[in-house]
Amino acid sequence: MPTVHELYELWAGDAELRDALTRSLGPRGTDWLFEVFAELGPQPGDVVLDAGSRDAVHAIRLVREHGVRAIALDPLPLHAELAHEKIAAAALADRIDVVEGAIESIPLPDGSVDWVWCRDVLVHVDAQRGLAELARVLRPGGAIVAYVTVATDRLEPEEAASLRGAAALTDDGFDAGRLEAAAADAGLAVRSVERLGSEWRERMIEDGAWNPTDDLLAIARLNRDRRELVDQYGPAAVAAAEGGLLWGIYQLLGKLCPTVFVWERRG
Ligand SMILES: C[S@@+](CC[C@H](N)C(=O)[O-])C[C@H]1O[C@@H](n2cnc3c(N)ncnc32)[C@H](O)[C@@H]1O
Repeated sequence: MPTVHELYELWAGDAELRDALTRSLGPRGTDWLFEVFAELGPQPGDVVLDAGSRDAVHAIRLVREHGVRAIALDPLPLHAELAHEKIAAAALADRIDVVEGAIESIPLPDGSVDWVWCRDVLVHVDAQRGLAELARVLRPGGAIVAYVTVATDRLEPEEAASLRGAAALTDDGFDAGRLEAAAADAGLAVRSVERLGSEWRERMIEDGAWNPTDDLLAIARLNRDRRELVDQYGPAAVAAAEGGLLWGIYQLLGKLCPTVFVWERRG
């Protein structure tokens, strides 16, 4: 540990170091996940399950890029409605089926899909059952691309507990070790694990697509005005807003680590 004297000398002479920190490290952006999927080698006519598809925008892109067929699965009627709208606007209703259902009990036959795209969903689900179901519907030799944000050692237990409650996170889906164990139990073999850490967030800032200052300011205001906000909007709404705001900030600080798993169903 430096003395106070040494510390101020270090700060006074750190211009070069500060300058180095203004240079981009070339972070990967969200498009990179589509490259990972392309590397699987999907063929026209193959069936891709988008598990937890929300409005199906990713299913639409996969169909356009690879000529595949897709199934957009999501349990929320609201999301199914949005998916129908987007798919109709993209004139792809003949290539994408919208299925209302949960990953823990997928209403599809065994071995009926070639590939699974599962982006930002496993944190919310029973990962043991969800991964077993993905393995069941996947054909032997098929693979899953799963993007999941997991907790790191830097996330304090109290932060983890409040984030879990606020953002409907499950114990399994939020823990890399438990996810890997659940995948192995489901008979899935690891093809690759890529820890993206803060890369997507860095890229969003560098591209001007996200301004963390806005979120930090909102967090500060939420903290100062919490009681009034809770009275006005209710505790669940305030906690959910806080969880959403902290999500990106924690990724940037290394408390949460976006991770991409590619799992293959053994033959
Ligand atoms: C963070 S959003 C991600 C949506 C989309 N995959 C994306 O990357 O933009 C999480 C999605 O998971 C869905 N979801 C929540 N619980 C689920 C479950 N048990 N099975 C399948 N999807 C679920 C939600 O409805 C929501 O659409």
